[in-house]
This record gives sequence, structure tokens and C-alpha cells, in this order.
Amino acid sequence: MSNVSELPVVDCEMLADGAAWVDGRIVPIAEASIPVTDWGFTRSDVTYDVVHVWHGRFFRLEDHLDRFERSCRALRLDPGLDRDAMREVLMTCVRRSGLREAYVEMLCTRGVPRPGSRDPRLAKNRFMAFAIPFVWVLSPEIQARGGHLTISDVPRIPPQSVDPTVKNFHWGDLTRGLFQAYERGADTAVLVDMEGFVSEGPGFNVFCVRDGRVVSPGGTVLEGITRATVRELCELVGIPFSLGRVTPDELRDADEVFLSSTAGGIMPISRVDDRVLSNGRPGAVTTRLRDLYWVKHDEGWHGTDVDY
Ligand SMILES: Cc1ncc(COP(=O)(O)O)c(C=O)c1O
Repeated sequence: MSNVSELPVVDCEMLADGAAWVDGRIVPIAEASIPVTDWGFTRSDVTYDVVHVWHGRFFRLEDHLDRFERSCRALRLDPGLDRDAMREVLMTCVRRSGLREAYVEMLCTRGVPRPGSRDPRLAKNRFMAFAIPFVWVLSPEIQARGGHLTISDVPRIPPQSVDPTVKNFHWGDLTRGLFQAYERGADTAVLVDMEGFVSEGPGFNVFCVRDGRVVSPGGTVLEGITRATVRELCELVGIPFSLGRVTPDELRDADEVFLSSTAGGIMPISRVDDRVLSNGRPGAVTTRLRDLYWVKHDEGWHGTDVDY
């Protein structure tokens, strides 16, 4: 691989919308592309991870790199870069974009098959990364009033088929849920698992608060790094936290509901289907955790400075 820090400098203005690292080169995000025959595209044969940068600092960078490396191993993908090189690529994407608040994604696709071959072992895997302006699962305006969540009847792909702890592009179910949400006038949707328990939504874990205790579905979901942060924040302030099964009725009847994602942090929900929660506003426990989440960011908690 080329020495990342010695890559030719591209005009910074061209990179303000985002910078990508593709095939050893930094390019403007609009020019970042892969061949149409890459199995990452034609078969969703890919894994990825997303870390964010807030006020010029990565949040939990090493945890995201850990999960990405685990996912690559699980899918027998070889990004072809060691940990230090990947970290430097991510740094370079952010540095070149100049973004202080960014959504930073790393991906590894199966790659292009050998001509005439259908053997995934023979494809050369492809690592890519990019930094674009920060992305919110729920916009700050929606968060101010609390999001409207619907419980979709679309079941999440069973974990026996696609391991949800390996971050993947099998989003057909999640996207169906999202369209269902829009049809129902909601902001987003949470899916159920094959047994009818609440699982996760397009890009987030879900939580309910009942009698001062926070519960989030375990088992059939991505082990969100923001979910781990929620657990740590709960421990810091003495709020009981557990993973467990949550039924749709329990979610509708909760005192409070919130979502968590690298793309937006801790995000309040004020309505689940027709049920209005905490007087239609973000709840007290949610607000406490959310405020702490951002204060901790400002203090540099779990932070890694970007060397602009
Ligand atoms: C399906 C799914 N669940 C949960 C999450 C939340 O994970 P994290 O907090 O690590 O961003 C994501 C993040 O993109 C996701 O795609």
C-alpha cells in the first residue's frame, strides 16, 4: 500500500463535501467508486463500520476498528491493511476533508471475481474508507420534539441466516420498515425478530425506560458501540441497565423510549405508534443520558484527536 501521509494533495475545496480513500488514492467523495462487478455491490458481500468525529475528535475509534476487524474475520475478508494503516487512512480522509464533524466509514468488499469464476476465495478483497459531513438518524429538529417511531411487522433477517453482530449491507428488511414508517407518518421504524420481540432499526439500537431502568434488546441485533456507551453512562450515574427481551407492547407502554447510533448519539422518541410517551416530549432519563453523552464528548472521553 502507498504511504498514506505522502499521497498527493487534492484541492481542499474539492474535498469539503467528503474525502474517500479508494485503491490507494484520496479522491473527492463524488468520484469515489468501485467496479459494478464487485461482489460488495452485486451480492452485499461486504462489511463496514462507521465511527464519528465530533469537534475534531474521533469517538471510540479503537472500538470501531476492533469491531471492523472482527467483522472482516467473520466474513473471511482481508482488508490488506494492518491496524495502524487503517487508522492512518481514516485520519487522512478526515484531515483532507477538513471536516470537524464527520461520518467516517470503512468498508471491505469481496472484490471483483476472477473472469468466469464464482469462487469467493479467489476474489481480491477491497478496502475503502471515506469521511463525509456528520449524518443524523434523526435530525436535531426531530430530536427536540422526540421522534415518532413505528413498530414494523417486517421481521429482521434471522441471526441464523445473517449474523447481525457483523455489520452488513443486508438492509432490505430495514428499508421496508422505513417505507412503512413514512406511510404511517412516523419518522422511523423498529423491526421485530422472528419471534415477535423488538429488535433494531435502520442504523440504530432501541431502548425503553421503565420505572427508572433502561432495557435494550439483546441477541438479534448489532452490538452497537453507542449501546455500550449508553451502558457506561448508566453505570456512571447509577441508572440500572440490562439487555433483555422487549415485546412491542412493552415498548408502547414504556415511560420513555430512545434510540442510539454513531449517526446521532442518543435520540429521544416521544411517540411509538399511536402511543404518546412522556407528554409527547423527550423524557427525563433520556435527556439526562443524552446531555451527558455530548458533555462527555466535549471533555474528550474516549476521544482521539484528528491531526489536521
Ligand atoms: C442495524 C444497526 N443496528 C445498530 C446500529 C448502531 O450501532 P453503533 O452504535 O455502533 O453505531 C447500527 C449502526 O449503524 C446499525 O446499522
